[in-house]
Amino acid sequence: MEAISIGLLGLGTVGSGVVKIIESHQDKLMHQVGCPVEVKKVLVKNLSKERAVEVDSNILTTNPDDIIKNPDIDVVIEVMGGLEETKEYLQTAISHHKHIVTANKDLMAVYGPELLSAASENGCDLFYEASVAGGIPILRGLVDGLASDRITKMMGIVNGTTNFILTKMSKEGSAYEDVLKEAQDLGYAESDPTADVEGLDAARKMAILSTLGFSMNIDLDDVKVEGITDITEEDLQYAEQLGYTMKLIGIAHREGEKVEVSVQPTLLPESHPLAGVQDEYNAVYVYGEAVGETMFYGPGAGSLPTATAVVSDVVGVMKNMRLGVNGKSAVTPQYDKKLKDGSEIFSKYFLRLHVSDEVGVFANITTIFSDHHVSFEKILQVPVKEKIAEIVLVTHQASLDDYETILLSLRDLEAVEEIKSSYRVEGGARR
Ligand SMILES: NC(=O)c1ccc[n+]([C@@H]2O[C@H](COP(=O)([O-])OP(=O)(O)OC[C@H]3O[C@@H](n4cnc5c(N)ncnc54)[C@H](OP(=O)(O)O)[C@@H]3O)[C@@H](O)[C@H]2O)c1
Repeated sequence: MEAISIGLLGLGTVGSGVVKIIESHQDKLMHQVGCPVEVKKVLVKNLSKERAVEVDSNILTTNPDDIIKNPDIDVVIEVMGGLEETKEYLQTAISHHKHIVTANKDLMAVYGPELLSAASENGCDLFYEASVAGGIPILRGLVDGLASDRITKMMGIVNGTTNFILTKMSKEGSAYEDVLKEAQDLGYAESDPTADVEGLDAARKMAILSTLGFSMNIDLDDVKVEGITDITEEDLQYAEQLGYTMKLIGIAHREGEKVEVSVQPTLLPESHPLAGVQDEYNAVYVYGEAVGETMFYGPGAGSLPTATAVVSDVVGVMKNMRLGVNGKSAVTPQYDKKLKDGSEIFSKYFLRLHVSDEVGVFANITTIFSDHHVSFEKILQVPVKEKIAEIVLVTHQASLDDYETILLSLRDLEAVEEIKSSYRVEGGARR
């Protein structure tokens, strides 16, 4: 039985995990796909770097053509990261009829549709399970497990770094900058954490999830993004006092034919299934019309968890090879994209204001809300310093347009010293 030959682009955190799993699970792979799996060539930048896994130095190369144009390679595993250059490598590999497995969400969020159609035209598979939520099999869960259902809502904690930071801030009452530094020291946050803390990494994953879950091409630009950098200890204390937990949540919601996709700090009631997802863990809550509530939970990153998803994709490629159906399993989007506008996006909101501590101020604020038919669910008022009071309120459901108009009117009100913070508040599942 001839071995399946793998060409690995990258031998860092995920690449070394892939080599370990292929070596240590060879028996299981053999049993599932009926032939051995062999890593034949590995692309790296630096040939003399020390590696987390032992590999024969003869299989290392710095020339991508040794893999992407090599007639002996069946499957190219891309775990090097990057965008434009990486896309070119994969296009070349596809034109040389290689199947592709990638963990690269940046690439799939931007060039996914283009690469998938190139792969399908060339009779190649392109699988990317590890690109969203690392070791959690969420993409197969959506595409296969829930294939018969109509998914209306997905909510994801899909960035481990920000979940680690928010968990620590909430538990320990620490400031954002201090916890970020600790996360960097522990290796949970990169030295440049921008893509994580500004929500961009989560937005890429939500673009991939909503494209699959709603069967329409959602671009990265369609995802409204807000990060966690402005969240303060005070916000988290008030959230707890009101019975909420703060999380960076990706929300994808479909009503009728229209969808909204966003990533933003969100207050969840403590009873919400996602509220208990702690530290660097990831979870995706999926609501289907027939199945109801489901939740996928697990490690969203890390060498072996992510490599598990990558190698499982390789098994998928090999099963397709045996059946002779490579390139036929990608489902093209069924619907044209229709995005909701601000009058169609509804949510509750948390708002924290500093106002002059004078008679009539609260009545003026209430009037602005009631002029837009928005009422309050919860209100706290506390004096913070001489002549200044802090008002913290949670609204009932309001449209995004109404809420933004209310914020503008509040800013114009002389008695409002400062709008300290404002966050979306989620209830239970809203179909
Ligand atoms: N880390 C995770 O937990 C995780 C989870 C999910 C998805 N991912 C995704 O998986 C991919 C890899 O992540 P990683 O954490 O494994 O990255 P990493 O540790 O930085 O490893 C990248 C590897 O690719 C090689 N490489 C990078 N650019 C190259 C180039 N231009 N030419 C040749 N080799 C190049 C590097 O070579 P040298 O070693 O010689 O420098 C290194 O071996 C990324 O797309 C990431 O978003 C990672």
